[in-house]
Amino acid sequence: MGQYRIAWLPGDGIGRDVMDATRIVLDAVKLDAAYVHGDIGWEFWRTEGDAFPPRTVDLLRTVHAAMFGAITSKPAKAAEAELVPALQGKGRVYRSPIVRMRQLFDLYICLRPCKAYPGNPLNFKEGINLVVFRENTEDLYAGVEFSPVPEELAAVLAAASKNFAPFAGLPRDQYAVSCKINTKRGSERIVRAAFEYAAKNGRKKVTVVHKANVVRATDGLFLEEARKVAKDFPGVQMDEANVDAICMWLLKNPHSYEVLVAPNLYGDIISDLAAQMVGGLGFGCSGNLGTKLAVFEPSHGSAPKYAGQYKVNPIATILAAKMMLEWLGEREKAEQVERAVAAVIEEGTVRTYDMGGSNSTLEMGEAIAAHLYARV
Ligand code: IPM
Ligand code: MG
Repeated sequence: MGQYRIAWLPGDGIGRDVMDATRIVLDAVKLDAAYVHGDIGWEFWRTEGDAFPPRTVDLLRTVHAAMFGAITSKPAKAAEAELVPALQGKGRVYRSPIVRMRQLFDLYICLRPCKAYPGNPLNFKEGINLVVFRENTEDLYAGVEFSPVPEELAAVLAAASKNFAPFAGLPRDQYAVSCKINTKRGSERIVRAAFEYAAKNGRKKVTVVHKANVVRATDGLFLEEARKVAKDFPGVQMDEANVDAICMWLLKNPHSYEVLVAPNLYGDIISDLAAQMVGGLGFGCSGNLGTKLAVFEPSHGSAPKYAGQYKVNPIATILAAKMMLEWLGEREKAEQVERAVAAVIEEGTVRTYDMGGSNSTLEMGEAIAAHLYARV
């Protein structure tokens, strides 16, 4: 029994590959933990009709933190077709387990650091070092969606908004509605988390990303809450940017940005953009943070075509494990892991295919672990 109880959720696809490499590193840094496997992923959707079974939900209630690999998801019809025959036609709907997990455990902060490590041949520019704070529980991810649109809803929309007129006459199976729902509380707390992070880490500026000029109600609310929060942090400058414009500015002047905060979907998009500037999905790591639980994962997907080949870059997951160490209060171990990752990148002798090398996923994990064994 270790000091920490960690849920270990490899999922499917390359999730297992990258998690195996990460375990080599966590063992090397001698984290005193018990890792408890949790069933999650496509296999459980197919055979049980639930990719995130209740036993795994229960497991998450008993741990300090979780490491999560990746999960395949497919559009509704394709997902239904892969269910075992006994489960077909029962109206089961596939919903991404990670999105459910974020909502169920109120993991309201999605923290995504993007750092250009010196020597990484994939850096878009050297010296980039920014973090994205993505709201993680609401917005267009609320899951309140209609296709076809129910009659009652169409009637309410027609009565409530004149802008609905062009759609009101359409047959209800000819359009779909996804609700973007943003709350004051949800907006306030993610912006506050971003400002607190900036104040604590000596970052001078927080850029609030929105589209309030068009999406007036929800993004207007987000921006208004952000402005209120900013007043509590006189030492941190608040900057505002439209989501489309920030995609251009980030590419042009990535060094001008330190902390970005955004509603869920914009945060999803800009965090992929930012990850690509520091080496792509092999380097994008993510912490889903709540008040009681936190789940750490690479930002990349499950890349089924590479599954089990131990070919992909595990650094994103290893950096996610570093974030977990910080969350657990193991700052020194977190720093050791980051230094080991930075050293392997800088040396350039062990590289996975994305970095132009031919080393395997596990060789990368072992190279990072070797630095830790040399120093710990
Ligand atoms: C991410 C991913 C997920 C998301 C997918 C896998 C549902 O893109 O973590 O950024 O959209 O949040
Ligand atoms: Mg994403």
